[in-house]
Amino acid sequence: MPRILLNVVDLHAEIDNKVVLKGLNLKIHEGEIHTIMGPNGSGKSTLLMTLMGHPKYQITQGEIIFKGKSLGEMSVSDRAINGLFLSFQYPREISIQVGSYLRTIYNHYQQILDSKFEILSVFKFQKLLSEKISELKIDRKFIYRNLNEGFSGGEKKKMEILQMALLNPNLAMLDEIDSGLDVDALKVVSNGVNKIKDKKMGILLVTHYQRILKYIDTDFVHVMKDGKIVASGDKKFAKKLEKEGYEGIEILNS
Ligand SMILES: Nc1ncnc2c1ncn2[C@@H]1O[C@H](COP(=O)(O)OP(=O)(O)OP(=O)(O)O)[C@@H](O)[C@H]1O
Ligand SMILES: [Mg+2]
Repeated sequence: MPRILLNVVDLHAEIDNKVVLKGLNLKIHEGEIHTIMGPNGSGKSTLLMTLMGHPKYQITQGEIIFKGKSLGEMSVSDRAINGLFLSFQYPREISIQVGSYLRTIYNHYQQILDSKFEILSVFKFQKLLSEKISELKIDRKFIYRNLNEGFSGGEKKKMEILQMALLNPNLAMLDEIDSGLDVDALKVVSNGVNKIKDKKMGILLVTHYQRILKYIDTDFVHVMKDGKIVASGDKKFAKKLEKEGYEGIEILNS
């Protein structure tokens, strides 16, 4: 039996005094892919931000257990070091060159994981980066641009997956990684995720559309409504949801 990677128990959380998560339960085992769908504003991004430990999101009740340890007040960077990764729904623009940003986070991460790790030189890192970049069909010139500045929606999403490829997390949380992608980019991004995923890595995907599930083979589909998971099913459930909407879900579930 695979180990439990993430166990979210009765999670209640708020942001700026607005209660968003209202008793959410979710269990992810090693190797599993879970997909969360649900209406706008139901709290999907809030869940991911809370799991990642964003300080603006306050947990008022419940617990997050990751790899057997309660995350408690653990900082965002410690969560990342422990193997959690979040790709944002709206990636921020940062005035730092992509290549130097990625080399810094990569070296920092590897050094904390292994004190004997020798920092990669610009040259060595470029070699590593080149492989990942070509897999994701990202143009080399992006390395010299500032992170996400002037990037198209699809380019930003690819940049998120590139970071995931370098950090190789235990649990990757991908918030609408498929939004705004054309068909070809959707394939590239999905194949990128599949390539990075090993047997043990867990994935928590948030999406509005079942089309990405053609490429990413999800084990479970959950519906989130008003801060809770109200129904769960397998891959086929996503098709039904997209066709019929979320209105009847409470009836389905009871
Ligand atoms: N800083 C904030 N202050 C007040 N309310 C907030 C804040 N951030 C989020 N919320 C509210 O929390 C609720 C959940 O938002 P969230 O972004 O988690 O929804 P979502 O399910 O990801 O929606 P979408 O599908 O549109 O991305 C929304 O009603 C939103 O307005
Ligand atoms: Mg969202």
